[in-house]
Amino acid sequence: MQIDNKVVVITGASEGIGAACASAFASRGALLSLTARSQHRLEEVGGKDALVTPGDLREESTRAALVERTLARYGRIDILINNAGVGLYQPAHGADLASVRAMFELNIFAPLDLIQKVVPHMKKSGSGAIVNVSSIGGKITLPWFTLYSATKYALGSITDGLRMELRREGIHAMTVCPGYVKTGFQRHVLAGRPPDLSGLGRKWAISPRQCAEDIARGLERNARTVVSPKSGWLLIALGRMFPATFDSRLEKIYWEQQANR
Ligand SMILES: NC(=O)c1ccc[n+]([C@@H]2O[C@H](COP(=O)([O-])OP(=O)(O)OC[C@H]3O[C@@H](n4cnc5c(N)ncnc54)[C@H](OP(=O)(O)O)[C@@H]3O)[C@@H](O)[C@H]2O)c1
Repeated sequence: MQIDNKVVVITGASEGIGAACASAFASRGALLSLTARSQHRLEEVGGKDALVTPGDLREESTRAALVERTLARYGRIDILINNAGVGLYQPAHGADLASVRAMFELNIFAPLDLIQKVVPHMKKSGSGAIVNVSSIGGKITLPWFTLYSATKYALGSITDGLRMELRREGIHAMTVCPGYVKTGFQRHVLAGRPPDLSGLGRKWAISPRQCAEDIARGLERNARTVVSPKSGWLLIALGRMFPATFDSRLEKIYWEQQANR
């Protein structure tokens, strides 16, 4: 899909990968509609041209306002980028259910509701794209955040299904699986502490800008799935080919993390 002159809604656009997407898509000539909770950061990211709708995406009223305001300003929505998300570093067998629900609300129900609100408008114009930002943790279950992985698996599965549901309507659906991206994500988790992956992280970490470029280029070639960085595909393939060995390695990291608490 060509991005020039397309109306692009980006959630979680006040910082990190979402802010970098705003810049990558604006540089390709997109018209932006941005949302997150922080109005001043959204205004900094979007400059004078972008439409900004601040609010908590776990609230239906924020999602409704985002879609209504975008349609009122631009008359259409061509691309929806469901990027806002949050993590939770607690074991599935002991996680605080209120935090789990808050995470599922932002990572699954908010994107699903936005998709349901936007698709009828895309159908009318006979074209559109839905980009859902999952994670490599949505391809490999990471035991230090099992439930976060569950949300990202679910989002990936929803995206695959949507692609088949909507292709004949001219609407494309793409999953994005970032690896370790240098953003405030680790600081913003709802609870718990990540394992010390600093060595691994340094080796594989990419900038939000690189991730956003991968997303924009993926959309330009109508990719089904973008793994960013590409080397993440190797990790996913190894996990599929050698599941027991892979589990043991991840289990070892998990128990090292428990011992360091
Ligand atoms: N960073 C990584 O290593 C990594 C790896 C794999 C996948 N991902 C995924 O990539 C996406 C972006 O992550 P990131 O690294 O850019 O994280 P980030 O730096 O923490 O940014 C998260 C964005 O979501 C917004 N947000 C958080 N809670 C919100 C809420 N309740 N309502 C509205 N907006 C909310 C934040 O803005 P406000 O605080 O202003 O609301 C911010 O703009 C997430 O879905 C994450 O799961 C990240």
